[in-house]
Amino acid sequence: MRTIAVIARKGGSGKTTLATHLALAAHLRGRQAMLADADPQRSSTEVLRLRQIPGPQVVETAGPKLFALKVAALRDGVETLVIDTPAGPETEVCHAIVLAELSLVVVRPTYLDLVMAVRTVEILHRLGRPGLIVLNQAPFSRAGAEPPPVRKALDALKLLHTPIAPVIIRARMAYQEALSMGLSVEELTPPGPAAQEIDQLWSAVEDRMAGRL
Ligand SMILES: Nc1ncnc2c1ncn2[C@@H]1O[C@H](COP(=O)(O)OP(=O)(O)O)[C@@H](O)[C@H]1O
Ligand SMILES: [Mg+2]
Repeated sequence: MRTIAVIARKGGSGKTTLATHLALAAHLRGRQAMLADADPQRSSTEVLRLRQIPGPQVVETAGPKLFALKVAALRDGVETLVIDTPAGPETEVCHAIVLAELSLVVVRPTYLDLVMAVRTVEILHRLGRPGLIVLNQAPFSRAGAEPPPVRKALDALKLLHTPIAPVIIRARMAYQEALSMGLSVEELTPPGPAAQEIDQLWSAVEDRMAGRL
């Protein structure tokens, strides 16, 4: 079983958006997928409840309960377990980090997100756990050139000694529209640019877990 924690010490960076999309990506690729919603706000539970067709199982949980949940998921044949975490207390997030093969660190290209990303990556390093950074809600590139906030963010993130996903997730209405129906952008707008981003993010996560990134 693959366990992926989606983390960021900053609210609103896109943890729930990417956690639900990764769980849906696993499901759409034929894996038995479970989304563990460890955020008391229960946003990913709300999102997947809107789904009218079969999808990943979603379980409401909390940091200290994650170990028992992982054991149960393993026993039940779950192949991909995605953990959506709260922005809040470090201890809550640490439970997810230690149980995951990989922690996906979600960062927007803003100063405050970058400051918090440094702290999040520090936790990963302290715990000796692997991470993958992904830039989310990024403005669009123009004529192939990244806008200054994206360039600055990438330069700063390179200093953190943690791989950065080769795909940048842009700010797109498709993500919000899809989740308002409990769908992935891979279902709502295939083969559009958002769907391609999620496919590339899925590949980056697999590559990182296989040690290729
Ligand atoms: N790539 C994106 N494009 C457009 N909107 C996004 C994107 N990622 C997140 N959002 C929006 O930003 C807000 C916060 O995202 P969310 O996933 O709930 O963050 P978090 O779980 O980290 O608090 C939501 O309204 C969500 O729809
Ligand atoms: Mg959330």
